[in-house]
Amino acid sequence: MDLGLNGRRCVVTGASSGIGRAVAAALTAEGARLLLVARGEAALRDAAPEGAEVLAADVTDPAAAERIVATAQERLGGLDVLVNNAGSSANIPLGQLSEADWELQWQLNVRGPERLMAAAAPLMAEAGWGRIVNVASSSGKRSSATNVAYSVTKSAQLALSRAYAEAWAARGVLVNAVTPGPTASELWIAPGGLADQAAAARGITRAQALEAAAARTPRGQLADPPEIADVVVFLCSERAANVVGAAWSADGGAVPSIL
Ligand SMILES: NC(=O)c1ccc[n+]([C@@H]2O[C@H](COP(=O)([O-])OP(=O)(O)OC[C@H]3O[C@@H](n4cnc5c(N)ncnc54)[C@H](OP(=O)(O)O)[C@@H]3O)[C@@H](O)[C@H]2O)c1
Repeated sequence: MDLGLNGRRCVVTGASSGIGRAVAAALTAEGARLLLVARGEAALRDAAPEGAEVLAADVTDPAAAERIVATAQERLGGLDVLVNNAGSSANIPLGQLSEADWELQWQLNVRGPERLMAAAAPLMAEAGWGRIVNVASSSGKRSSATNVAYSVTKSAQLALSRAYAEAWAARGVLVNAVTPGPTASELWIAPGGLADQAAAARGITRAQALEAAAARTPRGQLADPPEIADVVVFLCSERAANVVGAAWSADGGAVPSIL
């Protein structure tokens, strides 16, 4: 299947690791041109496929969106595809979430992606073609107790994605979300990541924590980042022409719903 992504100019946030890094690799394989964004520039450069542009930026900074879109125009000559993927989480019980924890998740999952969509969609509409994919989470469909600020703002990200989809579809800019379940990215498996945090919180081993996360999905295993990236890239493509405002589950069946 030709995805029609050859030469498309794409911005991917959170591209130095995990799902975003896999999205960058998959888009490169389709011949797309990339501007990759994350805070840590050295890791971003290490992760970037050959030929990709990189920009160190923090999507929670209110000035970042304009800077990212301006850089795409300058270095890629425009912008056809935006993947809002930057994100993070931590295992924090409900009663221990601080103002800063709530604010971080709000900025990462709602305000950051919203500012980027607001900056990118008009440019795409001018050209009559665009794709925006918001990487949300199964936790946005079924709240997870490990970080309610994450779940609540991932739900909000789905509502935001839907609102942008309805506002821009008639002008050729298609907005969708993907909702991964537990995925073996650095977020889960890096030392001190969610596996180690879950193990410490529950007094079990890291291997048991990973087994428990896998067992919560009917598939019975964590996804590999490229398995999520393939869904994201399809939604970025020409072939997803009639998919608008969807929240595509790529969660191994974790959320027990057919919607
Ligand atoms: N892994 C899962 O189980 C899972 C499940 C459902 C949804 N998701 C979602 O998938 C997305 C990617 O997660 P992942 O698992 O691939 O995580 P990851 O391996 O930890 O990668 C996160 C990426 O985001 C970047 N990032 C973090 N905060 C940022 C900020 N403020 N500004 C710019 N970049 C930032 C990180 O680089 P720097 O730290 O250098 O900035 C890194 O490149 C997130 O939105 C996450 O919520 C993940």
